[in-house]
Amino acid sequence: MMKLRSVGIIGTGKYVPERVLTNAELETMVETNDEWIVSRTGIRERHIAAPDQATSDLAYEAAVKALKSAGIAAEDIELIIVATVTPDMTFPSTACILQEKLGAKKAAAFDLSAACSGFVYSLATANGFIQTGMYNNALIIGADALSRITDYTDRNTCVLFGDGAGAVVLGEVPEGRGFLSFDLGAEGAGGELLKLEGGGSRCPASEETIRSGKHFIYMNGREVFKFAVRVMGTATEEVLRKAGKDKSEIDLFVPHQANIRIIQFAMQRLDLPEEKCVINVDKYANTSAASIPLALVEAVEEGRVKEGDTLLLVGFGGGLTWGASVLVW
Ligand code: UT7
Repeated sequence: MMKLRSVGIIGTGKYVPERVLTNAELETMVETNDEWIVSRTGIRERHIAAPDQATSDLAYEAAVKALKSAGIAAEDIELIIVATVTPDMTFPSTACILQEKLGAKKAAAFDLSAACSGFVYSLATANGFIQTGMYNNALIIGADALSRITDYTDRNTCVLFGDGAGAVVLGEVPEGRGFLSFDLGAEGAGGELLKLEGGGSRCPASEETIRSGKHFIYMNGREVFKFAVRVMGTATEEVLRKAGKDKSEIDLFVPHQANIRIIQFAMQRLDLPEEKCVINVDKYANTSAASIPLALVEAVEEGRVKEGDTLLLVGFGGGLTWGASVLVW
């Protein structure tokens, strides 16, 4: 049987736009208050893209840093995947736009749509390409500008989201390091719980789609919450089993940053103390595909990740979908 290569993260970078939207400012926009937002979600502020910044611009900033930290030139990158649900436009893909901006002429490029699970789905996809030798490296970016599809008159959703991008470069690493396992899944039956209907082929953009707000995110928060708590438990157990690791071996837990209460449920289930968990939902809110890489890269930049550490990444989102991975740094 062909020997598969070990694949790991060899460079990281992140970017959030300058503009900060605080809970206090949201209080002036909709009927909400800081106490409700903090106690129900853990969110205190979020970053919002400037009017002239699209998702590829956020992705570009994070990608340049990731390439620099990997010591790889853009023209040597062989594959670019952008995980996003807020592409610059329907097509060309944001990955193609980014390929041109970076000058990554050699790279195959495509977007991957798995909402907040998109980054882990993309890692798994690129891991397969590199493991088998089809490509030698890949640039993976989770980037979203959810502010562009958020209704700032709907208090049920507008307090929850922010914009940002996180990027990693993947390449071959010594045996025993890198990705040990993935667990990806979907429950299409729950697709109605979290969606953006307008502008697709079922419901093309029209005056009516605008009038009825179908160009904005719709979410049934309570049902998504229940799904999230359930799959954060099952996906972490399954991905640990596949990696042959026990929960006590996790050095750093990097969950999707949607809601502090969902993260706390997962930490309890894994018996993890807070110092083993990355939490930055307070600063960035839910940034969709950017959430896990923003948390991971921030932990790396803060010196919280050491060589040989075992990390568990896990996320959930629209689709409905989930994705988890165990990796050795
Ligand atoms: O990336 C995946 C995407 N999504 C998620 O992870 C979201 C998962 N869901 C959640 O995080 C939570 O369900 C929410 C944070 C969205 C909501 O928290 P909850 O504890 O489930 O609140 P609820 O929906 O049960 O609403 C409680 C009350 C409602 O009032 P009534 O009907 O009880 O009178 C809401 O109208 O809170 C009200 N409410 C608000 N009040 C102040 C809803 N949003 C707000 C708000 N400010 N922003």
